[in-house]
Amino acid sequence: ENALKHGSPSEPVEISLCEDGRLIVRNDGHTISPEQLKLLRNRFERSNTNTSGSGLGLAIADAIAEGAGMTLYLRSPATGRQDGFEAELVAE
Ligand SMILES: Nc1ncnc2c1ncn2[C@@H]1O[C@H](COP(=O)(O)OP(=O)(O)OP(=O)(O)O)[C@@H](O)[C@H]1O
Ligand SMILES: [Mg+2]
Repeated sequence: ENALKHGSPSEPVEISLCEDGRLIVRNDGHTISPEQLKLLRNRFERSNTNTSGSGLGLAIADAIAEGAGMTLYLRSPATGRQDGFEAELVAE
């Protein structure tokens, strides 16, 4: 939902499920600074005010991942790209 909502509307969302179980969702869009990126999984934290939302999605996803013994990584720019955003869920 975040990739569709916050990503560039003219570019596709890329979803990969790797053989080792990693799930990666990538979208285009502006780069988020490292400082901002660190805050995004906090409740009510948002970096883009042009969209509607409460800033809760990543906090919930992070809590579920942690409860399930998984790790949620957030990156910007997306791996191998000049900009964009990437969320990776790793079962470890
Ligand atoms: N895929 C993404 N691409 C670009 N920015 C993102 C992406 N996912 C999250 N963000 C940024 O991180 C912020 C926090 O995301 P989060 O899902 O917690 O809240 P939200 O989407 O704004 O609102 P809610 O999930 O409560 O509807 C977003 O407001 C946006 O600035
Ligand atoms: Mg969200």
